[in-house]
Amino acid sequence: MQDLAGKHIVLGLTGGIACYKSAELCRLFVKAGATVQVVMTEAAEQFITPVTMQALSGRTVYTSQWDTREPNNMPHINLSREADAIVLAPCSADFIARLVQGRSDDLLSLMCLARPMDRIPLLIAPAMNREMWAHPATQRNLMQVAADGATVLGVGNGWQACGETGDGRMLEPAQLLEDVTAFFSPKLLAGQKVLVTAGPTFEALDPIRGITNHSSGKMGFAIARAAREAGAEVTLVAGPVHLPTPRGVTRVDVLSAQQMLDATTRAAQSASIFVATAAVADWRPATQSEQKIKKDGSGRTPVLHFTENPDILLSVAKSERAQSKKLFCVGFAAESENLAEHAKAKRERKGIPLLVGNIGPLTFGQDDNALLLVDANGVRELPRAPKLTLARELMTEIAARLPDWRV
Ligand SMILES: Cc1cc2nc3c(=O)[nH]c(=O)nc-3n(C[C@H](O)[C@H](O)[C@H](O)COP(=O)(O)O)c2cc1C
Repeated sequence: MQDLAGKHIVLGLTGGIACYKSAELCRLFVKAGATVQVVMTEAAEQFITPVTMQALSGRTVYTSQWDTREPNNMPHINLSREADAIVLAPCSADFIARLVQGRSDDLLSLMCLARPMDRIPLLIAPAMNREMWAHPATQRNLMQVAADGATVLGVGNGWQACGETGDGRMLEPAQLLEDVTAFFSPKLLAGQKVLVTAGPTFEALDPIRGITNHSSGKMGFAIARAAREAGAEVTLVAGPVHLPTPRGVTRVDVLSAQQMLDATTRAAQSASIFVATAAVADWRPATQSEQKIKKDGSGRTPVLHFTENPDILLSVAKSERAQSKKLFCVGFAAESENLAEHAKAKRERKGIPLLVGNIGPLTFGQDDNALLLVDANGVRELPRAPKLTLARELMTEIAARLPDWRV
């Protein structure tokens, strides 16, 4: 997806092992539609060559403020004025300290200092050894650069090139792409707390087997990501799925419908928007065998009895918070036929302001989907598109409905 189409990014590399990840980051920015101008410190050139970065960005790399290629010999002015953002990845401890002091003794620091702060944001992806990261000087400097207007994207945790394990790794390129994309997104849901359920539930028959469904969780995860991009604080209650947690989202993993209800009810107490995408099992086995149900050789098959599961959407929609219009509830209906009819009926049954219909077999496991939005005013179709695109459109639709619904 061309999430960064039309954006021009100055990608600044400073001296650290994580420069090897910057090659991939540059590629991802370009793939996402951005143009990328790479600027490197002298130390960064010890870790990766400008040739690699030039080949990946398709532009000659700048490393010196004395570069005579610019007619006015001021690359720090010219390159920074063109940028939609300066992204420092990796950003060394040393470079953070230089930013704090307002130093400008090389091209990249000079460019950061000379940038018009009101229109050219500075995003920082630190990378360093865990002791360097934990040092009070580094933490103090990070607080200062943030106070001076930079956005610090955080660090990862894990094995480090020095052989130690801990905080301070540079975030992975895909995570940085997600963060930079979110940074550019309009903050339509700023101040909102969004709760999303996603994926299937798993209703155990015995310790080995259970009943589940084909929901992949992709739609709900896309919604959680889109809500976070739109500036919301997001909690994602996820059934058993194998999907990475979207950046900046709090995830609660559950298995059964009852566990999903418990986690959702808790989170709903402070949420302002609830989007129920999970494909919750309608029934669960009435009893759960403590041991594996075995064949006994007689040819007889086990007889299963079922109990109805709690209706999570209905339960949240009937809560005091939803009834007093503090919680905007959005339901999803996965149908196999007569979508508009079923979706309208479900919206009324649940008493919610917005119901989103989709055709189950055409969405489960797929990367794209088509949605039908049903509210009190009628029906609107969002044509087939990637789930993330639809999720972003849905956030826009929700944001547009909130002011009228709340009065
Ligand atoms: C092998 C090696 C690896 C290094 N890795 C890092 C690192 O990951 N993070 C960091 O902040 N500094 C690291 N340093 C130290 C920086 O390269 C050094 O502070 C340098 O002055 C940074 O310059 P710059 O900020 O101008 O790029 C490393 C040094 C060496 C020799």
